[in-house]
Amino acid sequence: CSVGLTGTKYGCGGGGCGACTVMVSRYDPIQETVLHWSVTACLQPICSLHGAAVVTVEGIGSTKTKLHPVQERIAKAHGSQCGFCTPGMVMSMYTLLRNNPQPTMEDIRETLGGNLCRCTGYRPIIDGFKTFCNVRTVNSSNGKCCMENSNSHNNESDISGELFSMDNVLPLDPTQDLIFPPELLIMGKKKAERLCFQGEKVRWISPADLKDLIKLKAEYSNAPLLVGNTTIGPKMNLKGTVHPLVLYGGSIPELRTIKWRNNGVTVGAGCSLSVLKDVLLQGIEELGPEKSRVYQALVQTLQCLASKQIRNMATIGGNILSANPKYDLSSILAAAECTLHIVSNDGAREICLSEEFFTDFGKTALRPDEILLAIDIPHSRPWEFVSAFRQAQRREFSFSIVNSGMRVTFRHDSNVVENLDIFYGGVGPTLVKARHTCKELMGRKWDEKLLVVGTQLLEEEIYVPPTAPGGQEEYRKALVLSFFFKFYMQVTLDALKPFKNEVPQANHSFQVETQSSNDPVGRPNVHQAALQQATGEAVYYDDIPSVKGELFVSMVTSTRAHAKIISIDASMALAMSGVVTFISAKDVPGQNRRLWFNNPEELFAEEEVICVGQIIGAIVAETREQAKRASEQVDITYEDIQPVFFTIEEAIEHQSFFDPKRKLERGNLEEGFEKADHILEGELYMGGQEHFYMETQGLIAIPKGEAGELELYVASQHAAYTQEVVGITLGIDSNKITCHVKRLGGGFGGKVMKIASLSAIAATAAYKTGRAVRCVLEREDDMLITSGRSPFLGKYKVGYLNDGTILAADITYYSNGGCTLDESSFIMEKALLHMDNGYKIPNLRGHGLVCKTYLPSYTAFRGFGGPQGLTIIESVLHEVAARCGLPAHQVRDINMYKDEKCYTHHKQLFSPHDMVRCWNECLEKSDYTHRCLSIKQFNAHNHWKKRGISIVPLKFGIGFSKGFYNQVAALVNIYKDGSVLISHGGTEMGQGINTKAIQIASRILKVPMSSIHIKETCTGNVPNAAPSAASFGTDAVGMAVKDGCEKLMRRLEPLIKKHPQFTWQQLVSKTYCQKISLSATGFFMGPHTSVDWEKSDGNAYYYFTFGACCSEVEIDCLTGDHKNIRTDIVMDVGRSINPALDVGQVEGGFVQGIGLYTIEELQFSPEGVLLTRGPSRYKIPALCDIPPQLNVHLLRNADNPHAIYSSKGIGEPPVFFGCTLFFAIKEAIAAARRERGLSESFPFSSPATAEKIRMACEDCFTRMNPPDRKVKTKPWAINV
Ligand SMILES: Cc1cc2nc3c(=O)[nH]c(=O)nc-3n(C[C@H](O)[C@H](O)[C@H](O)COP(=O)(O)OP(=O)(O)OC[C@H]3O[C@@H](n4cnc5c(N)ncnc54)[C@H](O)[C@@H]3O)c2cc1C
Ligand code: FES
Ligand code: FES
Repeated sequence: CSVGLTGTKYGCGGGGCGACTVMVSRYDPIQETVLHWSVTACLQPICSLHGAAVVTVEGIGSTKTKLHPVQERIAKAHGSQCGFCTPGMVMSMYTLLRNNPQPTMEDIRETLGGNLCRCTGYRPIIDGFKTFCNVRTVNSSNGKCCMENSNSHNNESDISGELFSMDNVLPLDPTQDLIFPPELLIMGKKKAERLCFQGEKVRWISPADLKDLIKLKAEYSNAPLLVGNTTIGPKMNLKGTVHPLVLYGGSIPELRTIKWRNNGVTVGAGCSLSVLKDVLLQGIEELGPEKSRVYQALVQTLQCLASKQIRNMATIGGNILSANPKYDLSSILAAAECTLHIVSNDGAREICLSEEFFTDFGKTALRPDEILLAIDIPHSRPWEFVSAFRQAQRREFSFSIVNSGMRVTFRHDSNVVENLDIFYGGVGPTLVKARHTCKELMGRKWDEKLLVVGTQLLEEEIYVPPTAPGGQEEYRKALVLSFFFKFYMQVTLDALKPFKNEVPQANHSFQVETQSSNDPVGRPNVHQAALQQATGEAVYYDDIPSVKGELFVSMVTSTRAHAKIISIDASMALAMSGVVTFISAKDVPGQNRRLWFNNPEELFAEEEVICVGQIIGAIVAETREQAKRASEQVDITYEDIQPVFFTIEEAIEHQSFFDPKRKLERGNLEEGFEKADHILEGELYMGGQEHFYMETQGLIAIPKGEAGELELYVASQHAAYTQEVVGITLGIDSNKITCHVKRLGGGFGGKVMKIASLSAIAATAAYKTGRAVRCVLEREDDMLITSGRSPFLGKYKVGYLNDGTILAADITYYSNGGCTLDESSFIMEKALLHMDNGYKIPNLRGHGLVCKTYLPSYTAFRGFGGPQGLTIIESVLHEVAARCGLPAHQVRDINMYKDEKCYTHHKQLFSPHDMVRCWNECLEKSDYTHRCLSIKQFNAHNHWKKRGISIVPLKFGIGFSKGFYNQVAALVNIYKDGSVLISHGGTEMGQGINTKAIQIASRILKVPMSSIHIKETCTGNVPNAAPSAASFGTDAVGMAVKDGCEKLMRRLEPLIKKHPQFTWQQLVSKTYCQKISLSATGFFMGPHTSVDWEKSDGNAYYYFTFGACCSEVEIDCLTGDHKNIRTDIVMDVGRSINPALDVGQVEGGFVQGIGLYTIEELQFSPEGVLLTRGPSRYKIPALCDIPPQLNVHLLRNADNPHAIYSSKGIGEPPVFFGCTLFFAIKEAIAAARRERGLSESFPFSSPATAEKIRMACEDCFTRMNPPDRKVKTKPWAINV
């Protein structure tokens, strides 16, 4: 902290996001060399770094001195949007290059698997980094080398794919890298001594050697032996666990020794999982396939276990001894009959690793004074087969739901089972052995009869209780049986292997602008702050150095969903060290509410709480840690109130809805239904989504001590609203409150509303104490308090003809709004306004009801109801096609708007011309027809894996339907030296609004982009700005900047004419001397948009953005795993102002859609508590989720008379494209069901998780274990 190195970011505190990645180098006395490891700083105890060198992003290069090629290439390849993940990405890649200056694509894939990015969709990051590869990989779609893809020129002369150029990039020169400090080298070669560190609460002892460790463990047997800290660390960081004494085992050579023996390998318990993997790979190579079967199974598991950084830290011993059945290694090590070598003061002993070793969750048969020294892993014997299985929510970097290790030995030269071992993790509190099954199957022949008997025995033996933590008992039971079947098939036929992860490759195309090279509009310029982001110099709110006397605030939240507050007792917390005060409703000097369009929401709950996570008070303390710990000690007594309910269905039962209830209608429904050949009724449920911006919400409030002035440095998408709410809370006029927004580490709609409440609370604390107050939400609190995208349920009735033409559709949309309205009614309006998508359904009616439940209030999220409205109509089309026995794309095509002039269902005139072009181009570019045939063939030849494909069109409204929001201002200042400073009302959150604004200003002022700067968004410079949202930020800001610049040019014009030879500086200087103002305000007043909901009539949007997307997937019917194979997107962005930024928005939005529709699943307990808090439980797309082929084409010759330079807004629309994966998965499941003679229509809701896919692919395994519906057990989680 005191050094002020803020480049390394903090995103989760539990090793789950990679934002904090740094490189640790150590001299290794065993290998006698310096080794470099990428690690997550949040889990790396400072004391463990004795003798190590740590390199952070600041250490490798800077914009002031020299960039490192890694920094330069990620920036230039457009791999940094909000930039919050970028330092972590850079350090992962840098470490890889330190170890291997010529990596393969697979090395890069492995290295970045643990670095999450919520903005980019990963493709540009890979594009930048693959330039370090020595291998030329070929893209199967076009036969080109991957190095050429991003630099390709299309044969149409004005089309390019060159988003970045490798010209003039710095070469990688390993000789320029930092050397390992010689003093550390000397230290590393010396014999170690015992080291003790004493902290405020923890004593840390690093023993001199093994003997010393054994002695210490005997003396302090309750002290944990910490090695990688990846199990202990998250508990200490996030759960507040304190160990007063810690023994460190990381420096004991015996714990890291590896010895190859004739019949196996002995691996020191302190070997990291990365070392283990390398050792095993070496064994596989040397021993050949037969002897190394155990090692192959282990490597397969290690490849997707955690992330590279975690594998560099986590140890094999720690993995076993954590005794967590979700951890993957014990099941396979037990199946392989491994032996544990244990030492203590009493001597040494050996234990065979089996289920008996694990006595309870987190407990083993190891005595507290004992140390696990090493593990013997035997070679595979002849006639022995070993397999490992795991299935997780996300294929990589995700704890398994169930894992398994299986081994069979046959009698020599026969198929008679001599020995069988089957172990499961994730089916109970400890590792489970299918002992009875194994015993019964021994001596039998390995044939189908054995398979049948074995499956039945397993079904009877392995019981997953309905109350098991994590729930999913039916699914887990299905996995138990499916894994056994897979094992049978793998041994018999070497078939049914898991999916292989691949590196995404991409093709892009966009239209090249042909104007003078000095005019940057339309060019793929790099994000204005990309280099600062890549070097860690970019400043986010929490990077601002602490202000003198600064305090920290931590929220106290409700643990009940609906209850009266009886008492609040903060005395215990107030007595804790460092605590300054407790604040609650009575401390608010102004009004204790946040007002939004006449809907008030309490800042602090006063009398009653209406959801778990509602803020009741806040502790203000000297440090973060003190505030956090004290806030847990505030004692609140409640009296529960009825009713309490959380789900949409329950809200419908209680008729609990917010006002207004909306309706849109065109045509005559009854007539439409009468003329229809068929009527279908159905529904689709779509789960919610967490924003998971990499930077959590927060701010710093600084009282200025004069006239009530207050400055806020805040991560807000709507600074003016934050200013307004803080003013009302403090009872101070807005002119005394200034909000500064430098940049956001991602927003996605989540930093509009709640941040205003948090700011008001921090401001209250600052007001009460008179000191600066910082608020930074921990990831868990952020997820709990700020909520996200609301779940939707669409119930529909549709009338259609035999050829798929839809005559009438009546849809009722229900959203779960949570406990307050927030933006939910506007979100619902947007869903209704998008319910026609690209389809001319003559009779169409939509009702929209926002359910009021006792959950945290849902809020805006990229797309803002659009994806939900669109997906439900797409589901209607999908089902109609299935019922008609027609291809879904044909039914979509038949129903599409095609006339030159069309009217939406709210009577807005538009031309679908460009939508139809996108659709046709997408069909062509994706080779749709041909691929449909290939998929048919694939499905005919594969019983347990199926493929599906889906293509959808898109029409998306841009701008706010609340017309007055379509306005913004910009201030353009020219200084005497000719430099230009722009301030505008938008906020930079990665979308590149500043870059585009500078491109526009550069075109008009005719000065290079490098002379124009945007410092921050500040309410003091540009007042009353609308939120940066609705894909409208650049449109509005661009116009305002243009207006401001044009005003200035008008003032300069007479002088330009008079002195055409003047340079810009001379011109500016002359203008100044003539007393002409060099500052101008630009203003953009958008058109009036509004909807008359009574008449279903209105121009809701400024204009429409169009597109089409096609995706193909493959599913594993036995596990529910799926693999995204290929996606093609054709997008109409008008004349792109910056194709690189626009392609980035398309890819990033689409990848958020991948999450929304496939893996991101929020779980609530039956008591309304959010269970999925943090990256360990909530999975956003990682690199492994990106389709290996992700092609984005910007529509050529597209124009838009309504927006700046004929461009179009692009932020929100692509999220919806994720639904192509959902429908493709549905097609694949339908293919599986068809083959099994099951109905092709089946209930299926979004997200299409592995559990849902598996259970929908009904088969003998899922049917073997029907749940006992009579036994009423409380579910683990509910669908809200
Ligand atoms: C983000 C993240 C993702 C993960 N994903 C996965 C995954 O997908 N699959 C999976 O299997 N695991 C996963 N893990 C778990 C990880 O593999 C284990 O945490 C790790 O292996 C534990 O090793 P460690 O050295 O860090 O243990 P530590 O945290 O240092 O210690 C863990 C426990 O083991 C004890 N211990 C450790 N070594 C010894 C020894 N030699 N003798 C006696 N006691 C000892 C300690 O006292 C402590 O009680 C993940 C962890 C994280 C943080
Ligand atoms: S902050 Fe360390 S991994 Fe997320
Ligand atoms: S750029 Fe990766 S999280 Fe924003």
